[in-house]
Amino acid sequence: MRIFLDTANVDEIRRLAATGVIDGVTTNPTLLAQQGGDPLAVLKEICTIVQGDVSAEVVATQHEEMIAEARRLAALDPHIVVKIPMTAEGLRSIRVLSREGIRVNTTLIFTPIQALLAAKAGAYIVSPFVGRLDDIAHRGMQVIRQTVAIFRNYQVKTQVLVASIRHPLHVLEAARLGADIATMPTKVFEQLLKHPLTDIGLERFLKDWQSAGYGRIL
Ligand code: G3P
Repeated sequence: MRIFLDTANVDEIRRLAATGVIDGVTTNPTLLAQQGGDPLAVLKEICTIVQGDVSAEVVATQHEEMIAEARRLAALDPHIVVKIPMTAEGLRSIRVLSREGIRVNTTLIFTPIQALLAAKAGAYIVSPFVGRLDDIAHRGMQVIRQTVAIFRNYQVKTQVLVASIRHPLHVLEAARLGADIATMPTKVFEQLLKHPLTDIGLERFLKDWQSAGYGRIL
């Protein structure tokens, strides 16, 4: 499963990309607005840090404008994947863009059938939002389970990206279900690394080593 960071914070992306296990980044208008500055410059900078897919979302809602914005975003860098919302205008746009070779991540997906429609239109990635479904007392991961099963039934090549992740259990479940990608806030990624027994174990190993009078291994 590929791991993406769901943030537009360049410093955080740089810091965590150094782990070598970050495969891409997803942004959205909210995340870019929080970052401030010139959003297109921020996206270009992110593309220099992460050698993988970087999702950038259109803000137009009508077909012609969506297409124009998508072309502008895609021209920024070969890593850019254009995010298009799951609407009728969006589906029309995905069809046109995919035929041009522009990779589309269909966003704001909340049902498996929305995901199937986006895949039929030619989406490269579909992004069901699990956390926002959990927030309203629906089972977000159920959408992932069913989408992965449907795509397997029909050998759909579109990748399933688990978005709106809130905690490490969402990541675990995404991997168990066979999702292609999980995108997460930096806080969740850092939670994945940590275990108290890892810290305690390391402390004990080093203490025992030093107690025996050994030093650095050079
Ligand atoms: O970028 C899409 C998604 O990951 C947003 O998550 O936390 O705003 O529901 P959230």
